[in-house]
Amino acid sequence: MAQRTLSIAAIPGDGTGPEVTAEALKVLAAVAASEGISYDVEMLDWGGDRYLRTGEIVPDGGLDLLRRKDAIFLGAIGHPGVAPGILEKGLLLELRFKLDQYINLRPVKLLPGVETPLAGRGPADIDFVVVRENTEDLYCGVGGYLKKGTADEVAMQQAVYTRKGCERCIRWAFDYTRKRNSPKKTLTLVAKTNVLTYGHDLWWRTFQEVAKDYPDVKTDYNHVDACCMWMVKNPDAYDVIVTTNMFGDIITDLGGIIQGGMGVAAGANLNPDKGGVSMFEPMGGSAPKYTGTNKINPIAAINAMAMLLEHTGHSKAAARIDAAVAHVTGTKMATQAAGRMGHGTREVGDLVVAAL
Ligand code: IPM
Ligand code: MN
Repeated sequence: MAQRTLSIAAIPGDGTGPEVTAEALKVLAAVAASEGISYDVEMLDWGGDRYLRTGEIVPDGGLDLLRRKDAIFLGAIGHPGVAPGILEKGLLLELRFKLDQYINLRPVKLLPGVETPLAGRGPADIDFVVVRENTEDLYCGVGGYLKKGTADEVAMQQAVYTRKGCERCIRWAFDYTRKRNSPKKTLTLVAKTNVLTYGHDLWWRTFQEVAKDYPDVKTDYNHVDACCMWMVKNPDAYDVIVTTNMFGDIITDLGGIIQGGMGVAAGANLNPDKGGVSMFEPMGGSAPKYTGTNKINPIAAINAMAMLLEHTGHSKAAARIDAAVAHVTGTKMATQAAGRMGHGTREVGDLVVAAL
C-alpha cells in the first residue's frame, strides 16, 4: 500500500542539541528502513549561532514552513553568547504559542537499569505522565514595570488563564487517561486553589465539569507543593497529572530527575487539532560546556523521536524504539546518572540501533 511520506523539520539547535539530534535521526533511519516508513527531514539551522550571525531567530516564512510539516524535532536551545530569555522566548515559546501546541506531554518513566535518586524505587514504582498546559499562565509575557530603575519600582507579571485554554487541556488529559487505561485510571489535577483563588478556581471548576463526561476515570486533586512531596514519597500513586504551565514546568524537572535525569526525559508539545503540527524534544538543555565531547546521553532525544512516531501514526515503530531503549538501558548501560552512562553519545545511538 502506498504510504504518505512523513515530513519532519529538525532544529538541532545549540550546544549538544546537534549531537543528540544526530542519534535520534540515526535511530529513525534504522526503524524507518525496517518498517518501510518513508520520510524526509529538513534540517533547520535555527538557534544561537544563526541569531548571532544574522539577528534572526525564526526567519521570515519559518512558521509557514513548519506548518507544512508533519512534525518538528527540536534538539536543544540556549547559547552562552545570547542573553537568557531571547532564544527561549524567540524560538521555543514562539513555536509552542504560534503553532498552538497547547499540550506539553511529559512521561515520567523509570527505565530498567536507570538509577533513580529515590531510594528503594524501581521501574514498577515510577511510571506516570504529566500533561502540562503549554500556552497560558505566567508564560504569556503579560505585565510591565512602573518607575523602572527607581527605588519605587513596581514589576508585574500576570498569570493568564482562559476557560477555553484550561478546558481543552483538561479534556485532552481525561481522554489520554482513558486511553492509557492503567489499573489506576486516575487523573490528578495539580494546582494551588488555596491561594490562586481566581485562576486556579477556574481550573478547579472546569476540571469538575469536564470530569462528568468521564465517569470511568477517577479524579484526584493535589496542591502543587504537596505534589512535590508525593512525587518523591509515593511516585507509584500517580497515573496522569494535569496541571498549569508554570507548575508543570517545575514538577516536570522533579519528574525528570526521579526518572534518572535530563539525559532520559523527553517531552512532546502537541497541537492535537486537525492540521496541527507538534514538536518533540529531549527535556535537557543545550549543556554548552559538553558540546562536541560525545558525553551527553542521547536516550532522551531517542525517546522524543519515539514520541514523534507515536503521534504521527507510527505506533509500531515507536514501540520498537521503546523496547530497544529499554533493552539498552537494562542490559548495556551500567548506570545512566549524569556523566556515568558508560558509553559515548554515538555509541549509545549505535546500541539502540543494534537492539532494534
Ligand atoms: C522547558 C523549559 C522551558 C520552559 C524554558 C527553556 C523556556 O524549561 O521546556 O521546561 O520553561 O517551558
Ligand atoms: Mn522546564
